[in-house]
Amino acid sequence: MKLSAAFSILLQLRSAIWAGFAPTLSAIVRNPSLLWHPSELSHTFMAHVWKVYGNGADLRGRPAKQALLPENATGVVLDIGADPAKVIKYVALEPNQLMHDELRALAATKGFTEAAGNLLLLPYGAEDTALITSALGGAHSADTLVCITTICSVPEPERTLAALVRDVLKPGGALLFYEHVLSPRADVAWWQRFWTPVWRRAFDGCCLDRPTHVWVERMPGVWKEGRVWGNEGEGEEEEQLFWHRVGHFVKKAD
Ligand SMILES: C[S@@+](CC[C@H](N)C(=O)[O-])C[C@H]1O[C@@H](n2cnc3c(N)ncnc32)[C@H](O)[C@@H]1O
Repeated sequence: MKLSAAFSILLQLRSAIWAGFAPTLSAIVRNPSLLWHPSELSHTFMAHVWKVYGNGADLRGRPAKQALLPENATGVVLDIGADPAKVIKYVALEPNQLMHDELRALAATKGFTEAAGNLLLLPYGAEDTALITSALGGAHSADTLVCITTICSVPEPERTLAALVRDVLKPGGALLFYEHVLSPRADVAWWQRFWTPVWRRAFDGCCLDRPTHVWVERMPGVWKEGRVWGNEGEGEEEEQLFWHRVGHFVKKAD
């Protein structure tokens, strides 16, 4: 991998620090106890960075997401980012409560509000499967699970994905994902592993080196059908620290 590509991540880090440093510092001045709570500090930084960059973070992936979600996100959808056309209930899972106001406002532009009863904003992590199941009113309540660049940050991701699919997704329901994952190129994978300890510290646990698509494909006896593909023009030979895979998997009916 060219060094310029391997170190381009530092430019992203610099932009993120530019966006997140001042508001995070001001939050610390208002509430110095944040210094003793690294995960809250990380939430604060990430919320400010995402406010500035979230919308334009991955323009190259927009066509893939637009092709994946509006067509396939139907019924009760757990997560965010889906087109509302066929969605009857939008369950947004977001453990960082500093992002909730923004999510509420965004969901409202698509017609989803708590007052109307078609938006449920849960302050849980994806790993809190029992709490999610209970908030949804029972097991197997979601018609669609949507994961958009989120599994990179979830603790125990393989176990968490398996539990969500087993306990939360309906038989016959769909898992849709768009994630940056471990590259098939050994040199790129080396750099992804190299940067991950720095990157995850800055970005609320985000890891560059997770083979999420492989974990999903390998879930034993779960899928009726499934397909993985990539962004247009993002082939296996690409020198990309953020190398993406898109997936559409349908759970067996029973
Ligand atoms: C890169 S952002 C992507 C947000 C959104 N899906 C999008 O595409 O704009 C990653 C999100 O995952 C959330 N996150 C972090 N840990 C999580 C967890 N354990 N469970 C669910 N979401 C988590 C972060 O708070 C953040 O909002």
